[in-house]
This record gives sequence, C-alpha cells and structure tokens, in this order.
Amino acid sequence: MKLIPTGTNGLDVMLNGGFPQGKIILLCGGPGTGKTIFSIQYLMHALKRSETCVYATLEEPFESIKKNISSFGWDLLSYEMKGLLKTVELFSRPDISPLKNKDRDAEEVSALSVARLLDTTRLMKAKNVVIDPLTSLVIHESRSGRKRSLIGDLFEELRKIGCNVIVTSETRPQEGDFYMEQFLADGVILLSKDIRDYSLIKTIRIDKMRGMSYDEQPRKYSITSNGFEVFNLEPVLL
Ligand SMILES: Nc1ncnc2c1ncn2[C@@H]1O[C@H](COP(=O)(O)OP(=O)(O)OP(=O)(O)O)[C@@H](O)[C@H]1O
Ligand SMILES: [Mg+2]
Repeated sequence: MKLIPTGTNGLDVMLNGGFPQGKIILLCGGPGTGKTIFSIQYLMHALKRSETCVYATLEEPFESIKKNISSFGWDLLSYEMKGLLKTVELFSRPDISPLKNKDRDAEEVSALSVARLLDTTRLMKAKNVVIDPLTSLVIHESRSGRKRSLIGDLFEELRKIGCNVIVTSETRPQEGDFYMEQFLADGVILLSKDIRDYSLIKTIRIDKMRGMSYDEQPRKYSITSNGFEVFNLEPVLL
C-alpha cells in the first residue's frame, strides 16, 4: 500500500509512513482543536510536491482562513495562481449559498453542494481533497437515512476518482446519526483537548486506519508558529 505524507512528521511516524493512498480520512475534533490548520498543512505539503488540490470550506470564508493562517507563511495564493489549488466555498445555508438557490429547499442544497464539489474535483483532476467540515455539507438534510446515503455516495465517488481525501467533523455527531462518518471513512483521527491537573493537554489519537497497523496510543500535539506538531515519543498520562 502506498503511503502519503500527512504533513506532520510525528503523525507519519505513528502511521509508519503516512495515510494510505486514495482513501478517506476523517479528522474529528471539537472547536479550535486545529482541524483547519492540520488540513491546510497537509495540502501545503502536497502542493510542494506539485500535486493538484481542492479545498472546500463550508463554515468559514476562505479569506478569513487565509488571515488566520497568515503567521505560518503558507503561500496558498501562489499555488492558486499556478492552478494547482482550487478553493471552493460551499456555504450550505440556502439564503447565502453561492448556488443562487433562494427558492430551493435545504435538502436540495446539500445535494447540489455535493455535486459542485465532485465537479470541481474532476475538473481539476485533483489528487487531494479536503472538505472542512463535512458535517455542514449535509446539515440541512434532516432525514438521517438520506444523510447517510448522501455521505456514502460522496465517499464512493471520491474513491472512484482515487484522490486522497481528508474530511473534518465535530466530535459529537447529531443524535441518531450513529457516528456515520466514522463508519463510512477508511481512517479516523481524533483530536481532543482536556484539562488535567489544571493544565490543558491536547492529544491526537488514531482511532482506525483500515488495512494497516499504527500507534494506537494518544500522543500530544501543539499548534505553534511552526504549524501542527505531534510529539509521538512523549507518553501521555491518562
Ligand atoms: N500561530 C497560530 N496561528 C493560528 N492559530 C493558532 C496559532 N497558534 C495556535 N493556534 C491555535 O489554533 C486554533 C485554531 O485552529 P483551527 O482553526 O484549525 O481549529 P478548528 O478545529 O478548525 O476550529 P473550528 O472548529 O472552529 O473550525 C486556535 O484555537 C488557536 O489557538
Ligand atoms: Mg476549522
């Protein structure tokens, strides 16, 4: 199995090389755990290898993301200009959606957003795709079964295209959704923040990675001006 660097050295060591190629990895974590920074750092490494990338943002305008990550010195604009990176804003609220569909119902917006994302991925012949966060893509779809099939169909199409995919998600899914993204994805990485002895500790854990062995222990991570770093050799006291 070919492995793809995750963009984070410590995590590459935990995975014995990186993410499996052509698979869908779910990155779960609460607010501010670093899902967006991790995903963009992953894309930056792929862009430096001259690979085509699509980044779909669903909650934060791309301009605001660019401002937040400015301290890392990641020059996304130059890759956009070279045609290697395409950013897609898929705001799923019908009233602000760029799909000009004020009259459409919310369920339809979810299906249209999925279609737009797949069209862009095919057009770009993207090798890497990030959907941040996946949860918002189907947030207006109230029917749990339909939500699962939308996500299932999207994953199936992305697997057919053969790109490496990272989808982010809040840790706790809506009740009744049975953690569906966790079951449908090929790999799951969990990010968490806990208070221990009055201090904040951030941990990363590989919850599943189909078809390979990996370090199952939670490890510390931090976000500094160097970006997202995993300390794979430091034990975490539980
Ligand atoms: N130099 C830095 N630049 C930007 N963020 C930093 C920096 N250093 C640390 N951080 C931390 O990174 C966190 C933001 O990470 P990020 O936006 O990736 O989180 P997220 O999981 O995507 O959050 P959300 O759920 O709101 O989308 C902030 O809480 C901030 O404290
Ligand atoms: Mg984010």
